[in-house]
Amino acid sequence: MKIGPRLEAVASFVPNDASVLDIGCDHAKLDIYLVKNKLAKKAVASDIAEGPLSHAKKNIKRHKLTRDIETRLGRGLDTYTTDLDTVVISGLGGKSMMGIFKYSRKKLKTIKTIVISPNNYQSDIKRCLNHLGYYIEDETLVKDGKYIYQVIKLVKGKKLYSKKEMFFGPVILTKKDQLFKEYFSREVKSREILLDILPKNYRLKRFQTKREIKMLKKELEN
Ligand SMILES: C[S@@+](CC[C@H](N)C(=O)[O-])C[C@H]1O[C@@H](n2cnc3c(N)ncnc32)[C@H](O)[C@@H]1O
Repeated sequence: MKIGPRLEAVASFVPNDASVLDIGCDHAKLDIYLVKNKLAKKAVASDIAEGPLSHAKKNIKRHKLTRDIETRLGRGLDTYTTDLDTVVISGLGGKSMMGIFKYSRKKLKTIKTIVISPNNYQSDIKRCLNHLGYYIEDETLVKDGKYIYQVIKLVKGKKLYSKKEMFFGPVILTKKDQLFKEYFSREVKSREILLDILPKNYRLKRFQTKREIKMLKKELEN
């Protein structure tokens, strides 16, 4: 089954022996891919809404995996059980992800690995998970259609990061692969557009945005 470069990158960060909870599974393509290709020991597909979950159930049935992939209806980590050591969330906004982890921080005790691919607020969710006791083991940029996504693997443990590492991503910064320039040039452009429309009295936001543009341009020149 083809799942596209973004979900393939997510799957590649799931440990082989993992028991996975996929939060916001929608179609459950990731879970089907993981189980069919024996890339995880177990997968549970969960979603907050009935519609996507019934879509997931149909897909799972079509692939004859009803005995292998459990489906659970619920919000965020409400569907988590302690037999699962890995949580995947992809395709949600960074702020929603922060809410999910902060709201259920007690459940993090038994979660060893977290794989995320946030649609936005990437630095914020990384910083949040770092404060909650995880470090960034790996991360990558992946192009899927016209968009470039960040995919991040976090593992339980402590590590301190500089502001610059948190902004660009500590591993993304060391890899500096071919997508780096394209991705962060887009980040410059979106901030320049923002500066054009931000009212003059939004002094702090304008100051922060200008500072970020400067930092981005400096890194892109190196
Ligand atoms: C854009 S889809 C992403 C699907 C898939 N994870 C992917 O990356 O392609 C987002 C899904 O997350 C679900 N969702 C949104 N907020 C959620 C939450 N707090 N808990 C569980 N599921 C949620 C939505 O119902 C939707 O099916």
